[in-house]
Parts: sequence; C-alpha cells; structure tokens
Amino acid sequence: MKTPLKRLAILGSTGSIGKSTLSIVEQFPERFAVAALAAGRNVDEAFAQAVRWRPLVVSLATEELASNLSSRLRQAGVTGIRVVYGTEGTVVCSTLPEADFVVSAIVGVAGLEATHAAILAGKPVGLANKECMVAAGEILTAAARQHNVPILPIDSEHNAVHQCLRVGAHAEVKTIWLTASGGPFRTLPLDRFDAITPEQALKHPTWVMGRRITIDSATMLNKGLEIIEACRLFDVPPSQVRVTVHPQSTIHSLVEYVDGSILAQISVTDMRLPILYALAYPERPASTLTFDLAALRHLEFEPPDFERFPCLTLAYQAAEKGGAHCIALNAADEVAVEAFLERRIPFTAIPRTIEQVLASTPEAHPVTIADVLAADREARRMAGALVA
Ligand SMILES: NC(=O)c1ccc[n+]([C@@H]2O[C@H](COP(=O)([O-])OP(=O)(O)OC[C@H]3O[C@@H](n4cnc5c(N)ncnc54)[C@H](OP(=O)(O)O)[C@@H]3O)[C@@H](O)[C@H]2O)c1
Repeated sequence: MKTPLKRLAILGSTGSIGKSTLSIVEQFPERFAVAALAAGRNVDEAFAQAVRWRPLVVSLATEELASNLSSRLRQAGVTGIRVVYGTEGTVVCSTLPEADFVVSAIVGVAGLEATHAAILAGKPVGLANKECMVAAGEILTAAARQHNVPILPIDSEHNAVHQCLRVGAHAEVKTIWLTASGGPFRTLPLDRFDAITPEQALKHPTWVMGRRITIDSATMLNKGLEIIEACRLFDVPPSQVRVTVHPQSTIHSLVEYVDGSILAQISVTDMRLPILYALAYPERPASTLTFDLAALRHLEFEPPDFERFPCLTLAYQAAEKGGAHCIALNAADEVAVEAFLERRIPFTAIPRTIEQVLASTPEAHPVTIADVLAADREARRMAGALVA
C-alpha cells in the first residue's frame, strides 16, 4: 500500500535541525512535503527556502523581517505564500489545517507556544526543542495524552531510547541510560576551565549543532536538560535516568530492563536519521544513512564527573523539584550562555549563575503556558542581573 504524503510544518527551518529536516524531505519526496516554515531572523535563508519549497505559510520573528521577505518574494515573482511573524506566526504554522506533522526545532522557549498549539490542534509532533519539554513538559505531555497526540523525540538520545523501548513494557524498564560524548573539556584540567574561550567551547568533538546546544554540551547542561526531557517523555522519575560518558557517540542511548538485558541503539552521528525515524514512525524507510560496523573498533564508557560538570548535579536537583525549577534551569542557562558567548562572563560562571537563580526560585508548578512564560521571564531577570 502506498504511504500517504505527510505535509510538514517545520518550526526552526533555518537552523541546523530545520535544514536537516528539509534534506530528508528532499530525499523522500514521495513521503514528505512542506506546508509551513517558521524561521527567526535569517531572511536570506527563509527566502531561499520559500522559493525552493513553496510552502503555504512562512513565519519570521518580527513584522519588519516579514515585510522584507514579502517584498523579496514579490520582486522574485513568487506568489501564494502567506508571510506572518512573531509568536502568533509560529502558531499559524503549527496549527495550519494543511499540515499533518509538526517539527518543533526552534531553539529555546520561543518555540513553546507553537508546540503546545500543535498538540492542542491534534498534530503529531517531532520534538527537537528540548527546552520546551524542560520548561513545560508536564503541560505538554498532559495535553498530548488528552488529545491522543504522539510526541516523537528527534533528540538523538531520546530517539534511541524510543527505539529501545519498543521491545519491552514500561514496568520492565529498570534504567534509561543517556550517553554523553563528554564534550570538548572531558579531560581538560579543572584549573584551566576559567580560561575556556567561546571558540574552544564551540568545537564539539562529534556533532555539528546550533550555538546554544554546543555550549550546553561543553558544560554538560545539555545532558541535564535531556535527563528532564527523558523523565517527561518516558514517564520515569529522575532516579531511573542515568548518564554514561561515551566519547565515540556511537551508541546514542540504552535501555536496561529488569531482567538484566540492555538494549542499545547504534547509528551514524547524523541527525537526519532520528529526524527520518520521527517523521516516518511507525515505518522505517530504507535510507543511505548506513553505519559501517566493520570499522567499529572500541566503545568506551565512564561515569560522568560531577565535580567537573556541576550543571549535571543542578539538573538532577531541578528534575526532582520539577515545575519552576526546571523552567529556571533552562532560562538561567540561556542567559548565561549568551553572556559567555559575548565574553561578558567566564565559562565557569555559567553553572554559578544557574545555581544562584535556582537557589532564589520558589517551588511552584505552573499549570498554564502563560504561567510557564512568566516564571521563565522571572528567571531570566534574575540571571540577567547576575551576569551584569
Ligand atoms: N542541532 C542538533 O543536532 C540538535 C540535536 C538535538 C536537539 N536539538 C535541539 O533542537 C533545537 C534547535 O537546535 P539547532 O541546533 O537546530 O539550533 P539552531 O541551528 O540555532 O537553529 C535555531 C532555529 O530557531 C529559530 N529561531 C530562533 N529564535 C526564533 C524565534 N524567536 N522565532 C522563530 N524562530 C526562531 C532560528 O531562526 P533564525 O536562524 O532564522 O534566526 C533557527 O531556525 C534546540 O532546541 C536544540 O536543543 C538540536
């Protein structure tokens, strides 16, 4: 039987995940098409994508950028594309009646409202934007259950866990093991951490990704966000999610079952594979993303160093408390990473800022997206004052 065409709304289309998603659409034109694209500030790329893919809607971050894109499309003789902007624009994209599937790949909480709206509109979501699951996972997963909407993880670790979970029952799961490359500073002496530059931190040993996630990988806060994401996606407590440092990034994660069996997922370090899995689920289309097993020589695993990477401890603490603490963890990190990239604070001030914001955050469990965004703003205000 022929697989029906899936029309995609891609949120964050100009980013690393967005572009990889479009390359999957390019490779599988009989399976996937583009209905809507949401970008931020990169008008050149959004214009090129609009011309190539002819979506029904394109969204940009601001009214000014949107009107710039509209006039460029007019001048190029491209008609029939609605150009929208801002949070409302991202929601127009994610709830478009013509879209069958939403790829959530905007970085940070800017993608939260559109992702929530997609779930409320009954659209299956391929989730790359871990920050929105960290900030509002309790609300998003409850809405997904209520509307019977699948949230399919694109994050490679959670995608691997999703695959390993297909062979066992929830009650049979003992531990979810998230693998971590350890980032570029796995073996750097601790007394040199203060001198780490943005250029050094932006060099990830195994993955090419956006700037924030690359710095988060260097501090291992990224793994911390993934611990919280795993708890929410797979409905397990933090004590059931553990991290193992695996520098080769060959095994993308593992699930240990109560009988002692451990299932691992191995594939190339290429985000197109988890994206294809999420888009095509429950099918597995044949692809060229093959892994050369014969070239595999060794697999190393070591426990994470909590002293070197205090962000991991902070994430476990936030995961235990949930609610406002998870929101604050993500928001404070985003502010601190930006300040580090602008050379306003040293690398080691990233965990210090997060720790201080968490210490001043009262325990609370927001129940609406508006409450989440208010808690997010408050954490950003505190972090902003600290980095200033
Ligand atoms: N890259 C990876 O391998 C990877 C792996 C796992 C998970 N993730 C997650 O996937 C998400 C995206 O990561 P990425 O690496 O693709 O990041 P990225 O390359 O920095 O791309 C971010 C995307 O978000 C858009 N954006 C930013 N602010 C926006 C706003 N206010 N409104 C609308 N769009 C906005 C950007 O648009 P402009 O560029 O046009 O401004 C861009 O399209 C993150 O949550 C990340 O943690 C990424």
